[in-house]
Amino acid sequence: MIRLPILLVASAAALSAAVAAAQSTPKTDTSRGELLYSTHCIGCHTSQVHWRDKRLAIDWTSLTAQVRRWQANTGLGWSDEEIVEVTRHLNALYYHFQPPRREADVRRDRTIVAGGR
Ligand code: HEC
Repeated sequence: MIRLPILLVASAAALSAAVAAAQSTPKTDTSRGELLYSTHCIGCHTSQVHWRDKRLAIDWTSLTAQVRRWQANTGLGWSDEEIVEVTRHLNALYYHFQPPRREADVRRDRTIVAGGR
């Protein structure tokens, strides 16, 4: 009869080890954009920057322009693809703008962005 509590303790320990293992499993759905943003950008601004009354990002194009501007400001030299990934991440998180659907829109965005600041 003294064996039962020991068994219970042992199985409880095994269970909590399993739970801990499950919790420490790295998230696999972290997007590249999220990773880039949290590594390089989040240090400076909280989410409040993206909720300001007079925010600079008013649609997909201007949001892309801001991301491009900030990665340039911080000397990161991101590729177009990386800029789009981070734009997508911020858009999903805060802005919810309509992303460009056609290639022509993307090209137009690039032109505007290149001509912007
Ligand atoms: C040196 C600090 C700093 C760093 C680093 C920084 N930001 Fe910012 N960011 C700001 C400040 C301050 C503002 C608001 C004022 C402004 O736009 O000039 C801002 C504004 C923005 C906005 C516009 C928000 C809005 O809707 O008005 C975007 C988008 C943005 N940052 C993205 C980024 C991204 C992407 C990075 C990483 C590549 C980044 N920022 C890195 C300080 C920073």
